[in-house]
Amino acid sequence: MANKLSLFFFFFVMTCLSLVCSLRQRSSHLCDRKTLPDPRILRADQMTVLMNGYSESRIPLLRSIAATYSAIPSVSSVVVLWGNPSTPAQTLIQLSYNLSISSSSAPISVVRHSTDSLNARFLPRPSVTTRAVAICDDDVEIDPKSVEFAFRVWTSNQHRLVGFFARSHDIDLTERTWIYTVHHDKYSILLTKFMILKTEYLYKYSCEGGKAMMEMRERVNRMRNCEDILMNFMVSEEGNEGPILVGAERARDWGDGRNGEGEGEGEGEGREMEGEERKRVREVGLSSRRGGHRRRRGECIREFHRILGRMPLRYGYGKVVNSVGEQGLCEKGGKLVFCDQQVAK
Ligand SMILES: *[C@@H]1O[C@H](CO)[C@@H](O)[C@H](O)[C@H]1NC(C)=O
Repeated sequence: MANKLSLFFFFFVMTCLSLVCSLRQRSSHLCDRKTLPDPRILRADQMTVLMNGYSESRIPLLRSIAATYSAIPSVSSVVVLWGNPSTPAQTLIQLSYNLSISSSSAPISVVRHSTDSLNARFLPRPSVTTRAVAICDDDVEIDPKSVEFAFRVWTSNQHRLVGFFARSHDIDLTERTWIYTVHHDKYSILLTKFMILKTEYLYKYSCEGGKAMMEMRERVNRMRNCEDILMNFMVSEEGNEGPILVGAERARDWGDGRNGEGEGEGEGEGREMEGEERKRVREVGLSSRRGGHRRRRGECIREFHRILGRMPLRYGYGKVVNSVGEQGLCEKGGKLVFCDQQVAK
């Protein structure tokens, strides 16, 4: 009996060991530079869209959004990163087929996440052959012209994050602690609803940064939140500069059902935004349920700050806009004119 037990125990330990080893191998394999394209030959004129997908009920919306991205000239390919482990393989095969026939110029593919870690969306991928990637959600629609414009802005600011949705960190003076909030006049955190970043940063996030970065990635796993905040920390630290907020002509946010954010707790609930500003104004009146979301995000900021021993987040001010309709007014000869007219004459 004792023999049988020890034999069982032996096999149990061996199985665990081989499992741990294969997990190790898998992540170190992804961080093996030899498996990835040489960063110097990545193409600069297009980007790869990495879109998170999770909810089967939202597949029709995902298909329409993916098809929109695939028609944008500066998009080289669209990869749907499927994060829901309980979705049947058959559904994904069908989705993959449906997407391939609805793609315009850029091909669309579906990849199932190998782990349910939130860090998985930032894993480096051998299939990415562009210098930039756009990280986005399957429930946010941005008009193609604004996506093109954001890519142009990124092209001249390659070490920064460029995106359409911004939040802030701040210090709560009474509590003497870091908090997560929204400011009207400045921002320091871009959300992964849509952000463009250097492909190289995926590698840095997943494979570099030593013990501190490992500990912070572990924190993301444990809190099941804040991978976007950690990316903002890393990129701001890298360039000692904040992100760039771009104004979208049209953005529609259908809300996020993951992380319990869907039921009024999250950042958006399927509302049309005529201007990002209006949305942000509404969010300032945060309900107590949303307060929970905000508190958890504040906790992440405090944890990352504690682990790093410094606060790398930097503020950006104002937003870059493409359309004359959103132009600021400038004073010229005692009269108010559109600012670009002032520059032109
Ligand atoms: C694929 O397309 C067919 C036909 O339009 C539709 O019935 C089916 O639900 C789609 N499935 C997925 C997973 O997209």
